[in-house]
Amino acid sequence: MSSPVEGPSVITCRAAVAWGPGKPLVLEEVQVDPPKAMEIRIKVVCTSLCRSDVTQWESMAQPDLFPRIFGHEASGIVESVGEGVSEFEVGDHVLTLFIGECTRCKQCVSGKSNMCQVLGLERKGVMHSDQKTRFSIKGKPVYHYCAVSSFSEYTVVHSGCAVKISATAPMEKICLLSCGAAAGLGAAWKVADISEGSTVVIFGLGSVGLSVAQGAKLRGAHRIIGVDTNPEKCEKGKSFGITDFINPNDHDEPIQQVVKRMTDGGADYAFECIGDTSMISAALQSCCDGWGLTVTLGVPKSKPEVSAHYALLLSGRTLKGSLLGGWKPKTELPQLVDKYLQKGIEIDALVSHNLPFEDINTAFNLMREGKCLRCVIHMPKSS
Ligand SMILES: NC(=O)c1ccc[n+]([C@@H]2O[C@H](COP(=O)([O-])OP(=O)(O)OC[C@H]3O[C@@H](n4cnc5c(N)ncnc54)[C@H](O)[C@@H]3O)[C@@H](O)[C@H]2O)c1
Ligand SMILES: [Zn+2]
Ligand SMILES: [Zn+2]
Repeated sequence: MSSPVEGPSVITCRAAVAWGPGKPLVLEEVQVDPPKAMEIRIKVVCTSLCRSDVTQWESMAQPDLFPRIFGHEASGIVESVGEGVSEFEVGDHVLTLFIGECTRCKQCVSGKSNMCQVLGLERKGVMHSDQKTRFSIKGKPVYHYCAVSSFSEYTVVHSGCAVKISATAPMEKICLLSCGAAAGLGAAWKVADISEGSTVVIFGLGSVGLSVAQGAKLRGAHRIIGVDTNPEKCEKGKSFGITDFINPNDHDEPIQQVVKRMTDGGADYAFECIGDTSMISAALQSCCDGWGLTVTLGVPKSKPEVSAHYALLLSGRTLKGSLLGGWKPKTELPQLVDKYLQKGIEIDALVSHNLPFEDINTAFNLMREGKCLRCVIHMPKSS
């Protein structure tokens, strides 16, 4: 049960709490503090499960950061605002941001980057401002994830880690623009800046890879090759713009050789959307000499180091990474939402499942088993 109250006092509501790495989430009653200065508290409406949540939840790398509330792809409504917040009002519709935008630091003012130095990717399970949590269970802290933690009926975020969006946008769809769909579209448009008539190869056709495919198609790429070990991704990939599908399991030779043969020596652009660093080398080798560009988006499950023969770079290839597709989230995500409302981009077909909050573990299982694209989790309306 949840008990929202007027004004900024503690809220008790339900959150899906992970008690240890890979342990099924438990719906617990948690206490959510009022927003502190420059923070807002959000009533989460919809939150979709991204592969990065699953990777981090399974990871044994930070065992001390449990109990923890995951979730970073979400839409919601501002419930209350902390001191000094003038940008948001109660009732505003927002997307949460796993990388924020302070608008003032060197990175934010550069015009070249979305890697805010103040509100960048938070890895310690706490809030940026005071390194503390806003969640607790009977007085014991519950850690955050990416300073968003949307697997809770209410959450507190820094006001720089949310963006106001059109109130007419369907919450159950546009939550995908808070991470996966935006990451793929931005990688194609902003990071790679794909040109018309080019050849593109995409490793991994989850929601991120399919969004890269959509971005490439809208830029007029001539050939878009999708690579995935799951044969079911062929048909879905084609509906998002891929012209050719390769299942590495159908070939005896390394996948880069297949791509090189299909593209007269290599594609113009390659994208790694799996989360496997060994595929970065395959992606680089699938690009052409001279100008081939590899953009890596995946968050690795293990082995964070990249290894590739230096000659791949000497011969003119570039390797780049990006978070959230390079979008400056405050400035640019609302435009992406508007583009969706004008039917300029497809998101609906990335939603494979709609689930009530109670079934959140089903979403984790579906993603682990490779049986979903995005599962959208609907928070209870009455809370
Ligand atoms: N950089 C960012 O801002 C950002 C944003 C969202 C997600 N991510 C990361 O991007 C990656 C993709 O995310 P997603 O949500 O689309 O994940 P997903 O799990 O839905 O999709 C991954 C796809 O890769 C395929 N795959 C797995 N191993 C493969 C292999 N060896 N060869 C070919 N295909 C293989 C799977 O079948 C699946 O279709 C993840 O690592 C995720 O953590 C990064
Ligand atoms: Zn994500
Ligand atoms: Zn900044």
